Amino acid sequence: MTPEHVDLVLHDVELIRPRLPQVADAFYARLFERYPDLRAMFPADLTRQRAKFADELHALVVALPDVSAFLAGAARLGTRHAGYGVRVAHYGQVRTVLIATIAAELGPTWTDAHELAWTAAYDMITEAMLLNLR
Ligand code: HEM
Repeated sequence: MTPEHVDLVLHDVELIRPRLPQVADAFYARLFERYPDLRAMFPADLTRQRAKFADELHALVVALPDVSAFLAGAARLGTRHAGYGVRVAHYGQVRTVLIATIAAELGPTWTDAHELAWTAAYDMITEAMLLNLR
């Protein structure tokens, strides 16, 4: 990830912050539409999950400039996810859907540079989440 990628993702995440609950809502709707098998991994009531996901995504993106804090937080999240039964292939499914959701949310301001920056950020998060798993 370049500093320009970090700046772009930080800028975008602050822009969509007031709408993060709706973004999380749209994200899960898209995810279960595209990958219905994933629905059973989550609780029936997604209210708290949506908020937690949105807060965590925001926290991880904001932590990007502080590498050690970022890695520690993401690794802990990754360990918990292994316990939820999340496997490497799932990260690729979530990647496509999350990027599409954020692109739709940002509308006409979304460019190839945004796509690159968000993809790099998501891949950093995923790599760090998977880092300590055996
Ligand atoms: C950017 C990547 C991700 C972020 C930021 C994220 C965030 C979160 C957060 C904050 C929670 C609440 C519990 C906790 O903090 O441990 C959670 C739970 C969960 N996540 Fe993720 N997640 C990500 C990727 C994934 C992926 C790829 C999957 C695969 C389907 C997944 C499936 C789940 C499941 C099954 C739960 C537990 C639900 C429950 O039983 O309450 N997550 N996630």
